[in-house]
Amino acid sequence: MILIDGKVIAEQVKAEIAGEVKEMIAAGKKRPHLAVIIVGHDGGSETYVASKVKSCEQLGFKSTKIEYEDTISEAELLSKIEELNKDADVDGFIVQLPLPKHISEQKVIEAIDYRKDVDGFHPINIGRMSIGMPCYVSATPSGIIELLKRYEIPTSGKHCVVIGRSNIVGKPIASLMMQKSVPGDATVTVCHSRTRNLKEITLQADIIIAALGKPEFLTADMVKDGVVIIDVGTTRVPSTETKSGFRLKGDVKFDEVAPKCSYITPVPGGVGLMTIVSLLKNTLLAAKGEIYG
Ligand code: GUN
Repeated sequence: MILIDGKVIAEQVKAEIAGEVKEMIAAGKKRPHLAVIIVGHDGGSETYVASKVKSCEQLGFKSTKIEYEDTISEAELLSKIEELNKDADVDGFIVQLPLPKHISEQKVIEAIDYRKDVDGFHPINIGRMSIGMPCYVSATPSGIIELLKRYEIPTSGKHCVVIGRSNIVGKPIASLMMQKSVPGDATVTVCHSRTRNLKEITLQADIIIAALGKPEFLTADMVKDGVVIIDVGTTRVPSTETKSGFRLKGDVKFDEVAPKCSYITPVPGGVGLMTIVSLLKNTLLAAKGEIYG
């Protein structure tokens, strides 16, 4: 069993990005600039945004954090998005989700200029991804692909079972895994909460991508020997052992499943660490004009 080390790979990719930024600066170009909008005080979101800003600093990016109380109106938020769309200094920006209920997330996502949508959530980027055109791929699927690539895990012709059909993870990773590319080229089955014979399907899987958000859902009896497991779950559960009072739990019952695997990602320390790196990579692509000029 090989433990896929998200920390090592994330550090590798970060070093590569930092190197590119240094070259850009040496060539007289401006630093890549990421802006992040956060609304309200969701604990998870505040932690993620703080890490995104910190990573920007580490890699030599400029970052701007724009904070609003959750009383902000949808119109005000949309007007800020319009301002960032027009701001030539901002290469890419994101609006951290979830948003308060009175604001339509879909409206917000569609208001972002797709050429600055480094989250890869805009329908144009999603559509381009699904037909294999250059685009911004969202952070989690992109991080998974990077891990499979760097560990040289064979995917061509393999049966990949995705559990979960969210717009952010399940659907895009299914799309990427079926694409004619490496990694990719797999036979993909997407399962979700209404799937009737789930265990029958997961037992056939060469690769399982668990992204349903139910702690320890996937157990040893559901997988065959030699399976590759990518655990995308990051549910916060209360814990008396950590300072923060919680810890992250994956969708896989790691202790019993790991011995049956050829490769497995831990939680924490697997996919999660790759997501911020993917966002920074997209911001670098935006700064270089590599996708939309
Ligand atoms: N909330 C959880 N994950 C993400 C993400 O990747 N981007 C944004 N904007 N919000 C999120």
